[in-house]
Amino acid sequence: MKSPAAIAILLLVLVNSVSGLPNFLPKNISSSPWAPFQNLTGCHMGDHVPGLVDLKRYLKRFGYMNFPDTATNSTNANVTDEFDDSLEWAIKTYQKNFNLNPTGSLDLSTVNQIVRPRCGVADIINGSTSMNSSGAAHANDRRLYSFFPGSPSWPSNKRQLTYAISPTARISADDATLRSIFARAFERWANVTQMTFVEAAEYSAADIKIGFYSGDHGDGEAFDGVLGTLAHAFSPTNGRFHLDAAENWAVDGSLPSVGEIDLESVAVHEIGHLLGLGHSSVEEAIMFPTITSGTRRVELAADDVAGVQLLYGANPTYNASSSSSNSAQEEERGGATSGGGRVVTLGLFSGAVSAIVSLLIL
Ligand SMILES: *[C@@H]1O[C@H](CO)[C@@H](O)[C@H](O)[C@H]1NC(C)=O
Ligand SMILES: *[C@@H]1O[C@H](CO)[C@@H](O)[C@H](O)[C@H]1NC(C)=O
Ligand SMILES: *[C@@H]1O[C@H](CO)[C@@H](O)[C@H](O)[C@H]1NC(C)=O
Ligand SMILES: *[C@@H]1O[C@H](CO)[C@@H](O)[C@H](O)[C@H]1NC(C)=O
Ligand SMILES: *[C@@H]1O[C@H](CO)[C@@H](O)[C@H](O)[C@H]1NC(C)=O
Ligand SMILES: *[C@@H]1O[C@H](CO)[C@@H](O)[C@H](O)[C@H]1NC(C)=O
Ligand SMILES: *[C@@H]1O[C@H](CO)[C@@H](O)[C@H](O)[C@H]1NC(C)=O
Ligand SMILES: *[C@@H]1O[C@H](CO)[C@@H](O)[C@H](O)[C@H]1NC(C)=O
Repeated sequence: MKSPAAIAILLLVLVNSVSGLPNFLPKNISSSPWAPFQNLTGCHMGDHVPGLVDLKRYLKRFGYMNFPDTATNSTNANVTDEFDDSLEWAIKTYQKNFNLNPTGSLDLSTVNQIVRPRCGVADIINGSTSMNSSGAAHANDRRLYSFFPGSPSWPSNKRQLTYAISPTARISADDATLRSIFARAFERWANVTQMTFVEAAEYSAADIKIGFYSGDHGDGEAFDGVLGTLAHAFSPTNGRFHLDAAENWAVDGSLPSVGEIDLESVAVHEIGHLLGLGHSSVEEAIMFPTITSGTRRVELAADDVAGVQLLYGANPTYNASSSSSNSAQEEERGGATSGGGRVVTLGLFSGAVSAIVSLLIL
């Protein structure tokens, strides 16, 4: 189904890796800040390997471990290179969220998932995961969208949001191109809900403020250069939407090259966060945390639609059975997408709403 050397443009339906099919290998991540994690492949409980402490910091960042930033390796085993119980537990939890075999060790498919570019928003908030696919064997049956802690959303008297791209925090792409990409990304969510979006005349007055930033940009969530984290956005009604200016952003709407990240794909994901959605374990969902470089994933999946419609109602003109969102597809030539923010509640949805499990956030 997938040749490792594939450079032809493929259109393929994502398949749950639990089914035994190989996980898509990340393509050329040598420039990723997380590339060194590849050296940890094969590590397991009891090992002591240089670099494990960095993996622990990664897992902490996305909610899988918890220790003080100020901890030192002489007082806290979580900041040593020891593969201990806490690390094993964190890895198992990560594996469950990403539909991997929960071995608790750093097998190849786990490492390949860890190094993928992703959204800066954490998967787990205050120790409770909102991504959970353990026990859900069939991807098609799962509705695993989540909300931020407390399920924040835009107030019901506000069904039109304004957005604007920062006049100064920019990448080199021309203005008209950027504006049309973001307009299309917003339109995808508007098409399925009662929320509408218009570009604001005045950046400072916009509900949603979009900007491209490098490194530390003042919100405590520094960007990390090429690959690694790609973007993050805040839960309602904050409205901040930040993208890593260092990425090789693909802006022409065609399939990006390996090493490039499709801007529209990431924009659709981050808008989900701005509307109140957290991450989903459904791999074909827009709200899945990772994206592979060289791929494009812009169509809302049924899971995304179900989640956002719970917050803002359905667009009366939306016809689920004629929508391509029922067969979410990812075009690929190379790699995955991601989003950022805080997640709090997990809505389990099976045909009709069956349960909403409240979770906690960062
Ligand atoms: C991978 O990326 C690095 C850094 O961008 C580049 O130097 C290298 O040539 C790439 N390798 C392949 C096989 O594309
Ligand atoms: C990872 O392994 C490669 C090849 O074995 C080596 O060149 C590189 O320095 C290692 N990186 C780290 C961070 O240990
Ligand atoms: C180490 O990490 C585990 C798992 O995140 C956490 O439960 C434990 O409290 C941490 N230990 C310390 C001393 O921070
Ligand atoms: C603790 O960290 C310091 C600085 O990174 C390092 O030099 C030292 O070897 C570490 N000690 C242990 C016991 O791992
Ligand atoms: C995750 O799924 C397992 C198995 O279905 C279930 O026992 C557990 O309660 C779920 N956790 C959350 C946070 O939904
Ligand atoms: C939104 O819906 C309209 C009407 O069905 C359609 O023409 C348009 O292509 C949709 N926009 C996107 C970005 O899918
Ligand atoms: C929805 O789309 C399906 C398939 O295109 C079509 O058969 C059906 O009549 C549509 N329903 C409505 C209410 O437009
Ligand atoms: C998460 O925990 C922190 C510290 O205990 C607390 O201040 C914060 O309110 C919690 N967040 C949520 C959403 O429960």
